[in-house]
Order: sequence, then C-alpha cells, then structure tokens
Amino acid sequence: MRIKNCYNFHDFRRYAKSRLPRPIFDYIDGAADDEITYRRNTASFETCDLIPNVLRGVRDIDMSVTVMGQQLAMPVYCSPTALQRLFHHQGERAVAAAAAKYGTMFGVSSLGTVSLEEARAISDGPQVYQFYFHKDRGLNREMMARAKSAGINVMMLTVDSITGGNRERDKRTGFAIPFRLTLAGLAQFAMKPAWGIDYVTHERFRLPQLENHVDMGGGALSISRYFTEMLDPALSWDDVSEMVREWNGQFCLKGVMSIEDAKEAVRIGCTGIVLSNHGGRQLDGSRAAFDQLAEIVDAVGDQIDVIMDGGVQRGTHVLKALALGAKAVGVGRYYLFPLAAAGQAGVERALELMKIEIERDMRLMGCNSVRNLNREHIRFR
Ligand code: FNR
Repeated sequence: MRIKNCYNFHDFRRYAKSRLPRPIFDYIDGAADDEITYRRNTASFETCDLIPNVLRGVRDIDMSVTVMGQQLAMPVYCSPTALQRLFHHQGERAVAAAAAKYGTMFGVSSLGTVSLEEARAISDGPQVYQFYFHKDRGLNREMMARAKSAGINVMMLTVDSITGGNRERDKRTGFAIPFRLTLAGLAQFAMKPAWGIDYVTHERFRLPQLENHVDMGGGALSISRYFTEMLDPALSWDDVSEMVREWNGQFCLKGVMSIEDAKEAVRIGCTGIVLSNHGGRQLDGSRAAFDQLAEIVDAVGDQIDVIMDGGVQRGTHVLKALALGAKAVGVGRYYLFPLAAAGQAGVERALELMKIEIERDMRLMGCNSVRNLNREHIRFR
C-alpha cells in the first residue's frame, strides 16, 4: 500500500491497520461500550441533504474562517489526541508541520508525546493546548503559565472525561500506558515487526506535558492512575470560571453538549465551545455533535464560537456543519490513521484531500465562501 493511493478515510484506516500492531490500531479505532455513538457520529451527517445552487460564479473559493480569534486557511483543524508517537515515530511533530503547511490549527494533548513548546517551534500557525483539570490547583496554574509562555493561542479544557470511558477493545488487548498486554495483545505486536523496529530505533516514549508536573512513581507513567488520582471529579463551573479569568485569552470547553452548559460557558467568559462526544470514546449513547449542533447554535451562536467534532470524514460533512452554524470542525481519526500509515506525508495527504474536497464541494454547491453557507443549503429528511 502507498499513501498516494489513499483517497479517503477508509483507505487511510485500512493502511493504518496493516501497519499497526492490533492493540494500537484498536486504541485509535475503538470507542466506548457498544460503539453506538461512534457509529452515529458519521451516520448523523446522512440525515440531511445538501441543496446546491447553480450559475453563481464559483471560480474562486474562499474557505478561510476565523475561530476564537484565529485565522484558519481551511475550516478543518486537527483536534488534540493522545500518544501520537506510538502511532508513528514523528507523532505530534508531523501533525504540527502538516497543519502549518495547510494554514490550520492543531492541538497538543496533555497526554501528548512531544512537548507543547517543541510543537510550537515547528508551527507558526494557531496552536491549541488541551488540558485536564487537576485536583492540585497550583498545578493547573503552573500548566497555564507554561502554555502562556510557550505562546499557545487557545486553551481547550476537555470536560467530557471526568472519568475514563469503557473501552472494551483496550481491555481485551491490555492496551494501557505503560503496556500491560495480554498474551493475545502481545502476539499481535509480534506480528508487526516493522512497527516495533520503528519504535525502538527512535527516541524513547515520553509524556512531556505531564512528566515535569506529575510524579507517577518510579518513572512508570500510568495514564489510568493519572485519571483516577490526579484529575478532579468534583470539578465545577466555579473552578473553571476562575481558570478562564486567569488565562485571560481564548479559552474553550471541549465536550459541551447541552444548551444549559453552552449558556454556562458563555456566562463564565469562554470564547468557544466544542460540541463533542470525544469520538464516541466516553459516554456511549450520547448524542452526535452534528445532531445537536443546530440547537446549540440557535441558543448561543451569537455569543460564542460554536465548533464541533466527531465522525467527520468528508468535505461534505464539513459543509453541512458550517451550514448549520459551526465556525470550524475538528477531526481526530481522520488525521490519525494517515499519521499511523505514513507520518507527516500521511497527515499532509489527508489535509490536502480535505481541502480539495471542500473546494470542489463548494463549487458544486454554487457558493464561493464557506462563510456564506447557511441553513438554506441543507434540508433534513
Ligand atoms: C482522542 N481525543 C482526545 N481528546 C482530548 O481532549 N484529549 C485527548 O488526549 C484525546 N485523545 C484521543 C486519542 C485518540 C486515539 C482519539 C481517536 C481521540 C478526542 C479527539 O480530540 C476528538 O474529539 C475525536 O477524535 C473526534 O472524533 P473523530 O474525528 O475521531 O471521529
């Protein structure tokens, strides 16, 4: 298989599957419980149809957007995801460089494997730092100060992961950090020696966002311990309100779904919300962001930037979300599979294909700027 023979999400996914040890592939591909929300995320885009206009002079297409004060050359950004160097040795470096090349935003996760400072040095485009709220308020303050001095443009607090989702695929394979592979999981690693060689011949695996702050004992970082011991399940709106004030810049909440919460986000001074169910990886049975989008935009769209992610695989998905009022759209697996398949070249190919699709789709829609997409362009069945 070759990356230039990949034309869509499914091709990237197949390629990644052929390269990755099964436990790692399943960590990316999997979701919570019965994975109903995961499947619904993409299926929800099929509940409405696009209505094109014709003869509208569509020689030049403008797909740039401004979201949370950031200028993006295209309305799709790379949502923060954990552990990228496990998927390909270039990890976050590849994503930062590819996002910069396509003039879009990317996020570095708290569980990222390259430091937010190093990623910052690779890209001169907008960078998000995704973080979790710790019991230790001093630590939260320290992390924000670090992000500020690194030149992070947008703080993104993930609020849908107050406890870990039930990822049964990971339980079967023993996927965890550090690895606690089951025999079956171990056998799957043995079957992908090329991945193993790539992994051991590059710098050792690290979690640089956390290692300076969090003592996880004997250097053996355990992500499940991080979630159960370090994060604060008592987190409330007042706590976040304080953080928003302290950051004093672009601040968004990732994983807001209800109208009430969207209004709270406005009240405490957030500048954005990301409608998201974490790619179906947290609460299975929760609503797809696209299904919930119109309600939220109607409630708070004039007061805060509404963004969504989950299940986006096509340019037409992006057009539908923007037509409903989203300011931009995040992708996760859409860039992770190509990252796993081919590193930076893979992520660039994914963004290139997305850009070409959006441009073509906009022409076919008879609309020359994504900012002119509106509800007249779609009908629900
Ligand atoms: C994620 N996501 C995520 N979100 C977050 O806030 N912090 C994180 O560390 C991660 N890590 C992570 C790892 C992997 C492997 C995946 C697939 C996802 C969620 C991510 O940012 C985004 O919300 C979803 O991926 C969007 O859904 P799609 O595009 O993958 O369908």
